[in-house]
Amino acid sequence: MAGGPTIKLNSGTEIPAIGLGTWQSKPEEVISAVEYALKEAGYRHIDCACKLWSTRHQDVEVALDESLSALGVEYLDLYLVHWPICLNPKGNHPNFPTRPDGTRDVIHDWPIWKTWEQMEAVLKKGKVKAIGVSNASEKILEELLPHVSVVPAVDQLELHLYNPQHELLDYLKSKGIVAQAYSPLGSTNSPLHTDEHVTDIAKKYELSNTDVLLGYLLAKGMVVLPKSVTPARISSNFEGAIAALNKLSKEDVEALDKLAPSGKQKRIIMPPWGVDLGFRNWPGQSPLIL
Ligand SMILES: NC(=O)c1ccc[n+]([C@@H]2O[C@H](COP(=O)([O-])OP(=O)(O)OC[C@H]3O[C@@H](n4cnc5c(N)ncnc54)[C@H](OP(=O)(O)O)[C@@H]3O)[C@@H](O)[C@H]2O)c1
Repeated sequence: MAGGPTIKLNSGTEIPAIGLGTWQSKPEEVISAVEYALKEAGYRHIDCACKLWSTRHQDVEVALDESLSALGVEYLDLYLVHWPICLNPKGNHPNFPTRPDGTRDVIHDWPIWKTWEQMEAVLKKGKVKAIGVSNASEKILEELLPHVSVVPAVDQLELHLYNPQHELLDYLKSKGIVAQAYSPLGSTNSPLHTDEHVTDIAKKYELSNTDVLLGYLLAKGMVVLPKSVTPARISSNFEGAIAALNKLSKEDVEALDKLAPSGKQKRIIMPPWGVDLGFRNWPGQSPLIL
């Protein structure tokens, strides 16, 4: 099936539920990976990681125009605020400014809704077809939502077997926000591929472990963004995710849901922002649920 399954966004458009991740792909590799995914493997969704970066929260339209021009397109289907953190645009580094003590140069009195107002403005101008957030916890969304005219269409989060964020998913559902799973395979050198429970389910249905990891997330109603620059994996991730979605039972999904709460919880992507984002299971932040 070209494009694979889709999920309806609150903007009214359908998003292909399987998208190709591109983070950490080398420049020469990513071109061929995207070309292969679109022409050979059936993908219709590329997460090109050109989200609004944290040093650009105060000039959203200019930053977006730079991305549109770099991509050679007139609009984006979906534009996200990468992190709900505003970094000093006049700091000592264009992307990761720091203070003299080495901590990140965060502008603490810039509320997220001021960034969002500008996101709504570029949506209104037609430069993007939908807008969303990334790395936004319930705490951040509770700060943002009272100020919005347009509810974020998606929240792109670290979501995988060992970081399933069950409570946050329930909250997003209650607000009509679709979850997008980044690092769905557990990112680079992931322990998820050899999980024994996943192996058992994979054997039962003659699937690969990767298929089960992706099918599990699809079955829970999220978009998955597996990254690969390897053609065989780009294809098998797409086809295998769909096969697993069709085969996994409600009981399989419920059993997989229990793994993280029973001790396998593991968050991988934890940049040292020095700001409490309100996530559980982020050491040093908020309630630590083990
Ligand atoms: N919003 C955010 O802050 C944020 C943060 C992180 C990621 N993301 C997005 O989410 C995407 C995915 O996350 P990710 O790149 O961290 O990790 P991922 O997709 O969970 O894992 C990627 C790793 O798995 C390998 N892999 C892929 N398919 C495989 C297979 N079938 N069997 C074995 N290994 C396989 C890849 O290797 P090869 O490439 O060598 O095949 C790569 O090393 C990113 O690319 C990016 O677009 C967003």
